[in-house]
Amino acid sequence: MKVVGDYYRLDPKRMPQHIAIIMDGNRRWARARGKTTTEGHRAGAQNLVKIVEHCEHLGVKYLTVYALSTENWRKRARAEVRGIFDLLVRIAKEKKEEYKRKGIKFFVLGNFQAFPLRVRRAIEEMLKIVKRHERLKFNVALNYGGRDEIVRAIRKIIADGIKPSEVDEQLIARYLDTNGQPDPDLIIRTGGEIRLSNFLLWQLSYSELYFTDTLWPDFGPKELEKAIYDYQHRERRFGGGK
Ligand code: FPP
Repeated sequence: MKVVGDYYRLDPKRMPQHIAIIMDGNRRWARARGKTTTEGHRAGAQNLVKIVEHCEHLGVKYLTVYALSTENWRKRARAEVRGIFDLLVRIAKEKKEEYKRKGIKFFVLGNFQAFPLRVRRAIEEMLKIVKRHERLKFNVALNYGGRDEIVRAIRKIIADGIKPSEVDEQLIARYLDTNGQPDPDLIIRTGGEIRLSNFLLWQLSYSELYFTDTLWPDFGPKELEKAIYDYQHRERRFGGGK
């Protein structure tokens, strides 16, 4: 068997096509080290960059990360949210050319129209890059909630005058923010909580779930490979039984 993976023997033929991640634990990571929340998110952002590159290296085709939920956006301190925006804008600037070269295409899930202008501009710049030669689609969920996504989809369906008889699963999937992308095969949540927290509620119906206590800034390429190794040794049945 041909093996990819720097730490685990991963089978390229059984690579999850789409991985989704709930990146939890930045603040606890910071607190344990006497650092600020912003420093925790900075370490989280640095780790995210490594994980994006490792996914590309392993041949994963889609990566979706939960960066800011609708609840985070509403409830977290303005300064904290601003810190996350600053990190996003910085990554967008620093990585633009490299991602273009490598064929990493950036998308946003969620409603980012409410964000400050400079953040929207940086996001829009990133959204423009890479036309051909896409190796990895990288979705960042910002001001995202699974229920909110479904509500927005239903509103669009009604606004487009779609007839009830035309509504089926394929049509709904096209109206979601993940429009046209395959559902995640594997969802990873770091930081020890065992719940989905309103993430990709429609799309995760048949995904394999992987939970770990490791805090997000410590969930590096080796831990990612461990999760994929675990996934590759499960049997997926999609409701078909044994
Ligand atoms: C969860 O940890 C993390 C977040 C709410 C923000 C995620 C942001 C990043 C990984 C950094 C930047 C992202 C981009 C796209 C540039 P938490 O703050 O809830 O930590 P806790 O569970 O320890 O409280």
